[in-house]
Amino acid sequence: PRSISRLLSCPGTIAASVGNEEQSSVVAEAGIEDKTLQKKFSEVQKERREQAQRTVLIHCPNNINEKKFLKYLSQHGPVNNHFFYESFGLFAVVEFCQKDSIKSLQNGTHTPTQSTEAAIPFKSRFLNLRLKNPSSQVSGQPFVQTTNQSPPSSKKLFELLIYAESIEEQLNTLLKAFQLTEENIRLRHLTCSLIEDIAAAYFPSCVIRPFGSSVNTFGKLGCDLDMFLDLDETGKLDVHKNTGNFFMEFQVKNVPSERIATQKILSVIGECLDNFGPGCVGVQKILNARCPLVRFSHQGSGFQCDLTANNSIALKSSELLYIYGSLDSRVRALVFSVRCWARAHSLTSSIPGAWITNFSLTVMVIFFLQRRSPPILPTLDSLKSIADAEDRCILEGNNCTFIQDVNKIQPSGNTETLELLIKEFFEYFGNFAFNKNSINIRQGREQNKPDSSPLYIQNPFQTSLNISKNVSQNQLQKFVELARDSAWILEQEDTNQPFSSSRQPWGLAALLLPPGSGHTSLSRKKKKKPMSEKVKGLLASIKSNSPDSSTDTSGK
Ligand code: GTP
Ligand code: MG
Repeated sequence: PRSISRLLSCPGTIAASVGNEEQSSVVAEAGIEDKTLQKKFSEVQKERREQAQRTVLIHCPNNINEKKFLKYLSQHGPVNNHFFYESFGLFAVVEFCQKDSIKSLQNGTHTPTQSTEAAIPFKSRFLNLRLKNPSSQVSGQPFVQTTNQSPPSSKKLFELLIYAESIEEQLNTLLKAFQLTEENIRLRHLTCSLIEDIAAAYFPSCVIRPFGSSVNTFGKLGCDLDMFLDLDETGKLDVHKNTGNFFMEFQVKNVPSERIATQKILSVIGECLDNFGPGCVGVQKILNARCPLVRFSHQGSGFQCDLTANNSIALKSSELLYIYGSLDSRVRALVFSVRCWARAHSLTSSIPGAWITNFSLTVMVIFFLQRRSPPILPTLDSLKSIADAEDRCILEGNNCTFIQDVNKIQPSGNTETLELLIKEFFEYFGNFAFNKNSINIRQGREQNKPDSSPLYIQNPFQTSLNISKNVSQNQLQKFVELARDSAWILEQEDTNQPFSSSRQPWGLAALLLPPGSGHTSLSRKKKKKPMSEKVKGLLASIKSNSPDSSTDTSGK
């Protein structure tokens, strides 16, 4: 069991975060830290939200003096935590101990006046710090240390993988290099909190909740930020004040359907973001999509954001993935490698289309781990069967109940290595009867496909739906062929061994080589040559200082 103690300088500070193994949630009573407990998803989200509400984002001059900066801010109250990062300038994320400090800071903040343009005077928590006397502060330590918010380049990744000592180590290295950092997680929650302030201009008690890979433990640095506008909080009634012979209703406008209501709400929020949202640029209202959304970039945090409305089933899906990702350390390592593998071979894309999605890939890995003997992951039905009364959850008429406390789930007795698992994953899906069978993590077994979609993965909560309905026969075929090739590569003894001295791509590094590098299964099988000339050429280009990076390992 892992255990960390963190001294808490302020009440309400989050003792640990989710996403990093070494930061996994810990309950540490002062001095007692032998028991490692994983926090519930809802608890983590609540704490992160509260933390974000005490936080500001500040664009800083490059030559800022950190000590003076902190001293200046502490006029408004004690600072609990801060970090700097670079993204078209220098930015600081500053978390105060108390929410009141934000008010005080905002009271001393000016709205800029310019001669040529006029400012929309919206007072947010995204600020700009200027030096009164720019030359005076250059002395001392001019450069602050910044944290990295981007994924490693493909060159860096290949280097890390080539020097690893086993395939197991390669998978864990990839996970460490790509997983969201503590700072990146904070920045994601802060961005949602900043957007919430804007949406609150219309809906004062709304909540903007992050979901998807930002919170489900499978997020990669650089992944998009999915968030939804939750208006249900406003509908929570104070039952104590509801006695007597009457009940009161709000006068409201009605529209013909829920979808139209969502479109209208997102439309005005999109307008708000576009017209007075500091840092919100490139706002696109995509209201006719199956799931209407507003897409925009948040300058400062650098995130590509997708805002939807009332998406509570997607949040529940994120919680389910969080449970699976927290149960066994092999799950995240395997999912990250499979996601990177799919991206490297263009099986996934940031453009919507007939490709498989990261969400589907994750569900496929979960299904595969349910099929091991003994199983590494429990079925969704078994997570439902051990649920308590407080776990009961019905959303839009769907029973979404499952146990929320990871600590109550029996750990798996399976001790298979990651090396075996990744090999078997490709073997399993390279030979899966996709034409007949569907993937179903609720029951943890294959079932007959209810329709003729090439790939059928049952939606865990809306069980009559297929989450991979968009995938074409061609894309599925490509997935199967690449899975077979990859299983074959991993079976070759010569690519299975570390070649630290010769720096040949072996193991996982060989699997991530981009298409067109001579790795077609047939040519390899016929020639039985471990490394083609093209692969050697590619390696040479990785070794050289050329900025050309052939594999896009960033983004989705
Ligand atoms: P990234 O590719 O890293 O962004 O992964 P992601 O898990 O965040 O995926 P994405 O941004 O595409 O979608 C966000 C969330 O929406 C997912 O985590 C799911 O919970 C949900 N979602 C996405 N696609 C589907 C789908 O086809 N069906 C259902 N039911 N939910 C989906
Ligand atoms: Mg996403």
